[in-house]
Amino acid sequence: MQALTVAPDRKNSLRLDTLPDPEPGEGELLVDGLAVGVCGTDMEIVSGGHGAPPPDRERLVIGHESLGRVRQAPPDSGWVPGDLVVGVVRRPDPVPCGACAHGYFDMCRNGMFTERGIKGLDGYASTSWTVEADYAVRLDPGLEHVGVLMEPTTVVAKAWDQVERIGGRSWFAPHSVLVTGAGPIGLLAALLGHQRGLEVHVLDRVESGPKPELVRRLGAEYHCEDAERVMERVRPDVVIEATGAAPVVFGVMSAMDPYGVLCLTGLSPAGRTLEVDAGYLNRELVLDNSAVVGSVNANRRHYAAAAAALAEADRGWLDALITRRVPLESFAQAFERRPDDVKTVIELTRH
Ligand code: BGC
Repeated sequence: MQALTVAPDRKNSLRLDTLPDPEPGEGELLVDGLAVGVCGTDMEIVSGGHGAPPPDRERLVIGHESLGRVRQAPPDSGWVPGDLVVGVVRRPDPVPCGACAHGYFDMCRNGMFTERGIKGLDGYASTSWTVEADYAVRLDPGLEHVGVLMEPTTVVAKAWDQVERIGGRSWFAPHSVLVTGAGPIGLLAALLGHQRGLEVHVLDRVESGPKPELVRRLGAEYHCEDAERVMERVRPDVVIEATGAAPVVFGVMSAMDPYGVLCLTGLSPAGRTLEVDAGYLNRELVLDNSAVVGSVNANRRHYAAAAAALAEADRGWLDALITRRVPLESFAQAFERRPDDVKTVIELTRH
């Protein structure tokens, strides 16, 4: 099989390798890879800033945003050849911690979890891969063209789950959401807000390209100005932050309305400092019963929620979110950032 591999501790080590075909173990599916999505985490791994290979190996097969078609399935697994499948990213830590022991591996407490294509386990950027049947999620057959958006959708399904659980600690009837950042995570968070019947606002710094149109097509409002000013005007009940840009994070945090819920999903580089009025911020959060929560990864429940959200969404809109499709042999192009990129996908098979 062909696989995209990296040495995670080295810069720009990404290459296309020919590796032995994988053999499915007991209870595993054998899958033909259809596509993988490329995200900021992949960019970081390729630039030598993140990730770890499997034990005793130097190289890691990259790719955690998967889509494949089952070639072979164990009898009685509930899977049949031809099923459209996505592999779960994270596996519980082996200890396991209490959260992992209870199926909440997305909330692992000791950091010893593994992640396919990111940390300690080979990913899905290969023409064939295997996956344990109970870490495989079936997709609606009509989603072949856009099903690679499943994993980022699980991330926002979890973010919304956090918001709703935190909001649910008292009376909560949200009317509007502000999403900061119109990348794939922000736009998919906006989609899930729209599906919840909320008034949706999206803030981004670009004024042109596909993002404003994608937001408009959702029936949402696009904003291109200072975060605090948008907060004052929109007064959202919920904010989902997907830029990871410190001024935006603190801008929205300090301008929340009472009982506001802010969910942080963006990763920022460490080492940048910002002047904040910490006393004011603390005082406002306390007096307003506001909540700020970080959210990463997703568990099986979020995969099920994401599969349902994608099945319900407009296929044309999902398709427009994928702004570039790169064939496997031209993989390097998928790791270039171009101005009109929203989601770039690597096609693992020729159509
Ligand atoms: C992935 C998550 C993962 C996180 C940290 C993200 O890009 O979507 O599944 O937990 O990176 O490795």
